Amino acid sequence: MRQKTWIPGAARSPVLAALTLPGVERSVGHARAFVTDTLVPDILAADGELIDDVVLVVDELVGNSIRHTRTGDGGKVTVVLVACDGVLRPEVTDDGADTRPHVLEEFGGESGRGLRIVEALSDKWGYRDSGRRRTVWAEFKVGGNCEGGTDTRRP
Ligand SMILES: Nc1ncnc2c1ncn2[C@@H]1O[C@H](COP(=O)(O)OP(=O)(O)OP(=O)(O)O)[C@@H](O)[C@H]1O
Ligand SMILES: [Mg+2]
Repeated sequence: MRQKTWIPGAARSPVLAALTLPGVERSVGHARAFVTDTLVPDILAADGELIDDVVLVVDELVGNSIRHTRTGDGGKVTVVLVACDGVLRPEVTDDGADTRPHVLEEFGGESGRGLRIVEALSDKWGYRDSGRRRTVWAEFKVGGNCEGGTDTRRP
């Protein structure tokens, strides 16, 4: 069981950091570094396991935005780290697609691991649409509180 981690500043500013990247494969590595660089100084009693999990989830979500959405067709992807109400929530916004994020039924193949990993590591995940763009999010329970709610919902 993961230990509670207090995120300072969450009460005042739910958004810890945000970054927009071009929809190219090398952006996955930049997104990973962005998450680590944001969370290492922001989390007091550095919770390496939590950070590793969030980095891996963001890796999969950014990879999906590039491989499965218009982001990968000359578009962009935005990564936002939100800390609110005892939850750390990475959000990855892509340029939209004709498909939707879903866990593939068939297991053991070359593909279909990404969202299984997201589902296994996070406490819950989902997506919401805003115009042509889509935001896929995953939540991790941590310590701390802040005011204000969220407008996220499960698919
Ligand atoms: N952001 C997204 N927008 C639209 N469809 C998505 C998005 N992310 C995932 N999908 C759909 O959900 C499916 C499952 O995603 P998942 O990440 O589990 O597997 P994969 O990307 O196909 O393979 P892998 O992650 O193992 O390389 C994808 O094949 C794709 O059809
Ligand atoms: Mg994937």
